[in-house]
Amino acid sequence: MKSFYIETFGCQMNVHDSEKVIGTLMQRGYNQVETADHADLVLFNTCSIRDKAEQKVFNRLQHHKKGGAKQVVGLLGCVAQQEGEKVFERAPHVSLVVGSASYTKLPELLVRIEQGERRVTGLSLDTDETFETPLTRRDNPFRAFLTIIEGCDKSCAYCVVPYTRGPERSRTLASVLDEVKKLVDTGYTEITLLGQNVNSYRDPSATQANFAQLLAAVGQVPGIRRVRFTTSHPRDFTKDIIDAIDDVPTLCNHIHLPVQSGSTRILEAMQRQYSIDQYMQRIEWMKNARRKMAITTDLIVGFPGETEAEFQETLNLMDVVGYDGIFSFKYSPRPNTPALHMVDAVPEEEKGRRLLRLVEHQRTILIRNNAAYVGSVEEVHVEYFNNATGQWVGKSMQHKTVNFTHPEGPSARLEGTYLDVLVTRSGVASLVGEAMEEAVAV
Ligand code: SAH
Ligand code: SF4
Ligand code: F3S
Repeated sequence: MKSFYIETFGCQMNVHDSEKVIGTLMQRGYNQVETADHADLVLFNTCSIRDKAEQKVFNRLQHHKKGGAKQVVGLLGCVAQQEGEKVFERAPHVSLVVGSASYTKLPELLVRIEQGERRVTGLSLDTDETFETPLTRRDNPFRAFLTIIEGCDKSCAYCVVPYTRGPERSRTLASVLDEVKKLVDTGYTEITLLGQNVNSYRDPSATQANFAQLLAAVGQVPGIRRVRFTTSHPRDFTKDIIDAIDDVPTLCNHIHLPVQSGSTRILEAMQRQYSIDQYMQRIEWMKNARRKMAITTDLIVGFPGETEAEFQETLNLMDVVGYDGIFSFKYSPRPNTPALHMVDAVPEEEKGRRLLRLVEHQRTILIRNNAAYVGSVEEVHVEYFNNATGQWVGKSMQHKTVNFTHPEGPSARLEGTYLDVLVTRSGVASLVGEAMEEAVAV
């Protein structure tokens, strides 16, 4: 039996792609091992969203000592697609380079590798297929990822994704629902729907269901208790998504809506296709939802030409929205993107200062937001017992981390269950509380 080792970098889409790649390999008789040393096949599933992410991949590749002459080393994911055949020059020990738009061809590419071919690539972006596998090796026993749409048709000026993942293509509603049902049968109760822009989902079959309709359908599959989704794009975010969340209690009241900047001028330069007024319209819908919504976002500081005043607009927006979480990044110039040639670069040190101010600002917002939960009861989907703190750890419906005590401590065996927790304290990163009742078996 052949063995393989895989290491994954990057976003949740990549993590889930790896789960499907692992399933594909297992179906071909490969056996997964925990270290690269003696594996027959070593795969790196890579990310190139920022320069640092790409450097990390090449450092890792350089440090990987080939385990024997017969070991095959392969590069998957966004760096593979971006660098293509050039990878063979930069890292001569690599013999397989495959972008995510070619994973459907993996079985045939593997055959060629097994037959001893030295340089095999899968780099076409010209596809309308989605990567669906008979076997998927899911890592998390409680929460399952499920990709509903691949690729991206936007062209944000700073972003590599359209070039690394290709054009948008949606899975059929029937195939999504079929997989959700199978997941329920194997014990999953929480699903995270994935896509670079889930809001532009459109069933390619006759139903032509849109994202809100898909969401409602997934949320109503018997046995499903929580549905999350990421990522939304403000331009394509429609009111019917909020209506679906209002109507279907299993749809989580948390929305990740990346804004990138609080300045309409910068948004235009970024080619984001919405203004702050339009973004705020979406936020209004959320604020008027039946349940209180948690809202999170992504922010980029130091985009070319960003002035201090425009950066201030981002800080102001953070106050107005009151985000429950942010992912913030220093702008990183990327190959092939329009922003690469923009002038007026913000100096690296200034980017660093803005990032720090942003993070500090978010701390104060989070302290305020989280304090409002003290005294409330949150349903927690429990993940594990933290021996260091003596607390159980899980997530609320709004995706807040909740640490809580239970009279039986670790012997309560709460993993994977849902239970109500009374919130007694709050911090920047989490809520703290006490279990209210016996765990509900699932
Ligand atoms: N499709 C999603 C996520 C894209 S990547 C979306 O549109 O929101 C995740 C985040 O990385 C982006 O939201 C953006 O904030 C950040 N990002 C992308 N390219 C970047 C770059 N060149 N420099 C810095 N941050 C970047
Ligand atoms: Fe990148 Fe924009 Fe597509 Fe998101 S929507 S993946 S930021 S191009
Ligand atoms: Fe990275 Fe590709 Fe995801 S660039 S963030 S792995 S889409």
